Order: sequence, then structure tokens, then C-alpha cells
Amino acid sequence: MQIKFSRMSSRIKPSAIRNKLFDDPQLITFAAGRPAEGLFPVEDLITASQSMLSASGIKALQYSSSEGNDEIRKYIAEVLMKKAGVDVTAKNIMITSGSQEGIDLCGRMFIDEGSTIICENPTYTGALGSLRPYNPKFVGVEMDENGIITEHLEKLIKENDDVRLIYTVPDFHNPTGVMMSRQRRKELAEISGRYNIPVMEDRPYSELNYDGEYLPSVKSFDKEGVVLSLGSFSKIFCPGLRMAWICADEEILQKFITIKQNASMQCSSFDQELTVEYLKNNNIYEHIEKLRALYKSRRDKMIECLDKYMPDYVNYNRPTGGFFIWVTIQKDIDTTELLAEAVKQARVGFIPGEPFYADGRRCNSLRLSFSSVTEEEIEQGIERLANFFKERF
Ligand SMILES: Cc1ncc(COP(=O)(O)O)c(C=O)c1O
Repeated sequence: MQIKFSRMSSRIKPSAIRNKLFDDPQLITFAAGRPAEGLFPVEDLITASQSMLSASGIKALQYSSSEGNDEIRKYIAEVLMKKAGVDVTAKNIMITSGSQEGIDLCGRMFIDEGSTIICENPTYTGALGSLRPYNPKFVGVEMDENGIITEHLEKLIKENDDVRLIYTVPDFHNPTGVMMSRQRRKELAEISGRYNIPVMEDRPYSELNYDGEYLPSVKSFDKEGVVLSLGSFSKIFCPGLRMAWICADEEILQKFITIKQNASMQCSSFDQELTVEYLKNNNIYEHIEKLRALYKSRRDKMIECLDKYMPDYVNYNRPTGGFFIWVTIQKDIDTTELLAEAVKQARVGFIPGEPFYADGRRCNSLRLSFSSVTEEEIEQGIERLANFFKERF
């Protein structure tokens, strides 16, 4: 083709999650971190859309502000961010089209070609995909069972030029399921303030704790106003509405609003009005309780089946919340290559470890998601996967 594409577009890769291999209808797939469809509040939303359209149909169908609907921003500030330990008002909140857009806007806002982003290694593959077009240098910070090792973070800040952003998923990390400890959150905010490097904390799973306690956000420890907190309704309500937000210091937020204005003008007025109407008439925490009960029993089932079926050279963590279990096969194996075989022979899907690493390394780990599979599917799928490993190794 003669058309000239931008260098930026050449760095865009297809999502590892939307792999054609997963199209096989016979497959039991533990790949995508999709919320459980059975609990989408369809009936409540039918009622909400009718009353919303009768009361504020014109508003829902007209253009609206770039920062987003005032009522929903107020709700996010006064209910959700307050619970996260952050004392803010609607002026600190901008609505984004999923946290995914929030991540992209942070890329536009802070990254020049060659500047450094420090992130957990492995990290959310969608964030790497979103930030890679800005051509940063990704530097991986070490983690342990308490999240980012802050001494290592400080070392990396000193060793690397032009660090512009620290990206973290503090709650039930995607893909490893690790929960960052309170102490590490505090230290992370202090380091961010001391070096004036923004932390982008990405918290879509924060409400989905099953046995561990709910912990305050990194932003709650932020004294200098440098932490950006990304939240989302995707995992606690429904992802199709693409309702999410950035919470930031007012001065920074104004810049985000200008960037958003130029990028996409605004999020859907309709979806925002619908969410406001739903929140007026329903207690979202009652809904979240149902989600937690369902995901907890799926998490328990997957752990039970891994314990029951997996050979001893397969290790995995026991997450206290979120959607994911990180599995490591103690063999010289690349899980990217293994996936095609597993799909063909065991009819089981997973996400190999490689796309979660900024350097795309060969990797013997993989991610299993338990959020959108039934307990029967978990039993069958894990048994099939374990038998496949036993035959293969
Ligand atoms: C860590 C993390 N951040 C962001 C997202 C994107 O969420 P949203 O639907 O809000 O764009 C996901 C989705 O899986 C995620 O796991």
C-alpha cells in the first residue's frame, strides 16, 4: 500500500485478549477479565432508561461538558473517592470513556518520545498497549507480595533519565492479583511527591475484595497533589457504558479537560444520564455485594480445582480479590507457544504472560480469569488444563 502511516500507528499492537484463538465455541476460556453478564442490572436499567428519557431526554441526547455530568462527578467525589480516603469535590473529577481512556490521556499529558515510565513488571497489558504509541522507555519495578518495592522504585528514579510517570494497579493487580500494602501505598505517594513524578494509580478492582480488607487509595496519602487516581464503573456496574473517571488536583484536571475536549469532546451524555438515574434509585453497594459473593465463590472454586488437579511444578497465587490468578509452570516453556496447543488439545484458553511484560520477554507464566466462567466450567477447564500439562511435561 502506498499510503504513509504515522510512526505512532506502527507501534500499536492488537490486544492479546482479543485473540482469534478464543473464537472457538467449544473453548472454556479463562482469558478475558470480563464481568459476569448474569449480574448486569438489565431490569433496573430498563426502568432507569425510561424514567431518564422522560425526565431528561433532551439533555441525554445533546452535547454536554467535557468534564462530565455534575451529578455523577459529585457522587464519585462524595461517595466513591471518600471511601477511598480521598477528600475531594466534583471539581477534581473528570469522566472518561473507561479507565482505558484515562490511561491514554495520561500518555498524551506526560509522555514525550524517549521519556521514562516506571511500571510493575508484569503489568496490565492494556496500559502498555495504550502508552506504547507515545514511544516511552518502560522500566519495570520489582514487586513482592506487598506490591511495588519502594526502595527499588527510588533506585530506578535515580538511575533513569526523565521519569515522567509511575503506573500502578494497587488493588488486586492485573495480572498477578497482588494487593499493595497500606505502608507501600504511603511510601509510593511520598516518593511521588518528593521527586515530583505523577503516580497514575489504576483502581478498577478496588471494591472487589473477597477476604482482604478494603484499602485506601494511593491518592489518599498524596500531600503534594501529584497522584492521579483512575476509577471505573466497568467491574462494579457494566463495562458497556464505558463510565470511568480521573481524580486529580484541580490544576492538573483542567489540563485533562482540555485534552479530552480536543480528543473526543466528551463522554456519552446518554450513558452519563442513565448512570445518574440508576444511582438515584439503586444502592450500588448492594449490587457490589452480589458481585463480591459471586466472584468469591468462583475464586474459591478455581483455587480448589488448581489444588486438586495441578501437578506440583505448577505454582499459583491465592488472590484476596479481583479477577485473576497468576500461574507459573516451573518448566522451560514459553506460554505464548503453549496457548495454541492448549486451545487445540485441551480446549482451554488463557492469556500467556508475555504481553504483560513491557519487554515482551519469553515467559513461563500465564493469567487465568475466573470472573465470567461458571463453577462447572472452572472444574472442567482446570481439570482439562492440568491433564494437558501432565501429558505435555
Ligand atoms: C487494570 C485495568 N485497568 C483498566 C482497565 C480498563 O477498564 P475500563 O473498562 O474502565 O476501560 C482494565 C480492564 O480490564 C484493567 O484490568
